[in-house]
Amino acid sequence: MTFFTKIYESWRKIQYEKYEVILENLGLYGLELNNKYIFDVGSSKGFLHDFLEERGIKPRVFVAMDVDKEAIRKNRTSLKVVGMGEALPFKREIFDVIFCIDVLHLLKRKIDIEPLKNGGILIISLPKRYEHKMNAEVERLTNNGCKLLSLFEINGQEEEKVAIMMRE
Ligand SMILES: C[S@@+](CC[C@H](N)C(=O)[O-])C[C@H]1O[C@@H](n2cnc3c(N)ncnc32)[C@H](O)[C@@H]1O
Repeated sequence: MTFFTKIYESWRKIQYEKYEVILENLGLYGLELNNKYIFDVGSSKGFLHDFLEERGIKPRVFVAMDVDKEAIRKNRTSLKVVGMGEALPFKREIFDVIFCIDVLHLLKRKIDIEPLKNGGILIISLPKRYEHKMNAEVERLTNNGCKLLSLFEINGQEEEKVAIMMRE
């Protein structure tokens, strides 16, 4: 078990707090996760998958991806892949929703949104201290066929900034 995978378990509660607020905000836009094709970039051990399962949310397909093989091995998601957020292993427009939670600041290049369907939703969430990275990525995506639906803060145990964007 890598050091990161081991200590990350203690972070589960903090992540669930963020997912809860993100879910509420998706609801405000009438955005549903049930029956959707969902992709979790930088999924780590699969907290998001476990959270949705605990809430009784049933995506049609949920794919988890992480660059860390150990984290993917521990992830309970049935569809999982080792890969990089900068070059996703899916080229067609497949997914209704892509989650990129606390990963953007770790990518060497920009996130690849190729696998997101037209009208699909991208959720980027980052600790507030990386706000400048979030703002730059939102601007880049806005200039590259995405519309910003919502930008908000979560003032929980970790201060977080979240962007909900739609591919047009
Ligand atoms: C802070 S954790 C966030 C995990 C998860 N998204 C969550 O909601 O708890 C960051 C994860 O991003 C992964 N990661 C780092 N660089 C990556 C890359 N280039 N592509 C995909 N995943 C990456 C790490 O291995 C780690 O599991």
